[in-house]
Amino acid sequence: MGGHAMASAPPSSGDPREGPLVVVLPDPESVALAVATAVVSEAHRAVDRSGRFTLSLSGGSTPRRAYELLGRTPFADDIPWDFTDIFWGDERCVSPDDPRSNESMARAAMLDHVPIPADQVHPMRCPGIGGSEAEASDAAMAADEAAIDYETLLRGQVSALDLVLLGLGKDGHTASLFPGSDALREKERWVAPARQSVESGGAGAGDTGGTGGAKGEAPLWRVTLTAPYINRAAAVFFIVYGADKAGVLRQVLEGDTSGADGGAGLPAQSISPTGGKLVWFVDEEAASQLDRGKYPRKERGWPR
Ligand code: 6PG
Repeated sequence: MGGHAMASAPPSSGDPREGPLVVVLPDPESVALAVATAVVSEAHRAVDRSGRFTLSLSGGSTPRRAYELLGRTPFADDIPWDFTDIFWGDERCVSPDDPRSNESMARAAMLDHVPIPADQVHPMRCPGIGGSEAEASDAAMAADEAAIDYETLLRGQVSALDLVLLGLGKDGHTASLFPGSDALREKERWVAPARQSVESGGAGAGDTGGTGGAKGEAPLWRVTLTAPYINRAAAVFFIVYGADKAGVLRQVLEGDTSGADGGAGLPAQSISPTGGKLVWFVDEEAASQLDRGKYPRKERGWPR
C-alpha cells in the first residue's frame, strides 16, 4: 500500500490523503508505550472535538501490554474516563469469564483498574453454544443475533468511533474478518457474525489469539465490526510485533491489494479509514521484511 512517510520527510500524521503512517519501534515494550501515548492523545483530541471519546478494543494477545499501561499511572491518570465509552472490535462466542474472551482480557488488563462508569463499557456478548450438529445451527443463529444486537447498540450510540485498535493475524485477518469470509465481504452491516474456516486453520490453530475451539473442534463463532464500519472511524491503530508477523506485515503494507478472488487481497488491506488516520505501530522484528528506507523509525514513544 502506498503513501508511506519517507524517512527523510517529516512523518505524515497518518492523514488519509497521505496513506498509512508506519511507526517502527525497537521492541514490544516500546510499541506498547507508543500506543498508550497515542491513545491518550486521541482521547484528548476526541473530547476536545465532541466532549466524548469512543474507543474500540482489539482482542488477541498483542494489545495486552498497552492495555496494562493504560490501566495504570501515569497513562490511566491522563485518560478522561468519565467521558470515555469502550466498545469491542470483535468477540468470541464464549462466556465473558472464558479465558478466550476479549472482554475478559481487557477487563483484567485495564478496565478493572480504572474509574470508568460501568454503563460506559459496552461488551460485545455472544453466547457460546457448542456441541452437536443440531446445536451448530443454533450457534450460527446466536452469533447473528448477537451481531444484530451490537449493531443496534452502535446505531444508538456512535455512528463513527473515535479510535479503533486492531491486531493482525498471521493469515492477514484483523478483528474477526477472516480471508474469504462473508463478514469480510459485508458492505452494509456494521456488525456481523464471523468464523474462521476450518481449512484456514480455524479449528484450534491460528493466532495466539485463540481463533478456534479445542484442537479438532469446529472453529468458534465470533462477532465482528465490519470493514465499512471500522473505516468510518476518526483513527485506526494497528498494533503488530514479533518476527512471526514480518511476512504478513510486508504483504499487507507492500503487497498488492488484488487478492486471488479479485477482492481486496488480505483482510487487513480492507481497512482504510474514509476520512480518518491510519497508523501502524510495529516493532523492528515485525518490520524486518519491510523496505527499510520507507518508514519513520522512532526510538521513543509517540509524541504527545
Ligand atoms: C482476536 C483479535 C484478532 C487478533 C489477531 C492477532 O479476537 O483474536 O481480534 O484479530 O488481533 O488474531 O492475535 P495476536 O495478537 O494474539 O497475535
